[in-house]
Amino acid sequence: MAYKGYLVEEIDGSFVGNIKDIDIPKISDGNVLIKVKYSSLNYKDALASSGAKGVVRKYPFVPGIDVAGEVIETRSSKFSLGDEVIATGYKIGMSEFGGFGEVVHLPDNWVIKMPKNFSSYDAMTYGTAGLTAAASVKKITDLCDFSSGPALVSGATGGVGSISVGLLSKLGVEVHAVTGKPDESEVLSKMGAKKIISRNDFMSEPVRALDKGIYTSAVDTVGGNVLAKIISLINNHGVISCCGNVAGASFESSVFPFILRGIQLCGIDSAESPLDLKENLWELLSNEWSLDLTNQTKTVKIADIGNEISKILKGEQIGRIVIKH
Ligand SMILES: NC(=O)c1ccc[n+]([C@@H]2O[C@H](COP(=O)([O-])OP(=O)(O)OC[C@H]3O[C@@H](n4cnc5c(N)ncnc54)[C@H](OP(=O)(O)O)[C@@H]3O)[C@@H](O)[C@H]2O)c1
Repeated sequence: MAYKGYLVEEIDGSFVGNIKDIDIPKISDGNVLIKVKYSSLNYKDALASSGAKGVVRKYPFVPGIDVAGEVIETRSSKFSLGDEVIATGYKIGMSEFGGFGEVVHLPDNWVIKMPKNFSSYDAMTYGTAGLTAAASVKKITDLCDFSSGPALVSGATGGVGSISVGLLSKLGVEVHAVTGKPDESEVLSKMGAKKIISRNDFMSEPVRALDKGIYTSAVDTVGGNVLAKIISLINNHGVISCCGNVAGASFESSVFPFILRGIQLCGIDSAESPLDLKENLWELLSNEWSLDLTNQTKTVKIADIGNEISKILKGEQIGRIVIKH
């Protein structure tokens, strides 16, 4: 028996993805076979699809770090046939064939039951981007007096950024959004951003060791100098959640914001988070923290994913891409 999947192969030094028939693996103990109804596109999937170093070790490979669907075969005491489930991160779409295929074979301790009142489609409108945004915002709400001042979000039109804008604004925080696409201010205003700052303006002055303490919190999705600038602008005892590196993997900063203002810089790693944290975050996203993402979600067939991969690699994607099998 075979299923259809977006198989990325290395051909003459280039990485090319095509829809191919792939054999359904034989299920092993402690695992489930899931019929994937929906997946979604994240920046990491675009890297895996284009052969970027450090994501996938061995090609041919089926990317897709996000999976939502139904258990069709089980060798696990935790899951029964027909259970609706979500699986994100761990080694899915990195060393285990992922959600860009119609079937995945996963260990049961990577899989969670779908929260009530949530469909596979709903889950994938958030996907790993939404889970990362929720983890970033949870750090802020747990660690600081988050409603006492504004929050800054960078990479604001992206998947993690736009959902972070929505979540913080839902929690009553005044959100300022830094973006390289200031023309998309309408989308960001609809998500609840009160102020839109163009990335060029934000970065126009050199980064200082300590700048005006304007923000109580920040979600940084881009890293590099943008993160250095954000660190200098955080007020006393504020918190920054940082998760991304599209603007650079390294930055130069100073100890002063940490030792004079007591700020905290928190790293977010949603992929390897413990399963119970993921369950809590999905519960929040399906209940008190749920957002209307219709305006910023585009649904595509897996055969049409190539264009969307090119766009996300160029930083041109807005909001979320859901993949329907
Ligand atoms: N640590 C984790 O657990 C985790 C989980 C998920 C994602 N991530 C990382 O988080 C980042 C965002 O992921 P995503 O899925 O939201 O990607 P995305 O949808 O592509 O969003 C990234 C956004 O960053 C901005 N951007 C792009 N190129 C930039 C550049 N050169 N300089 C500054 N800003 C730039 C763009 O927004 P604007 O045009 O609005 O500025 C872009 O939309 C990625 O680095 C990804 O690998 C980490």
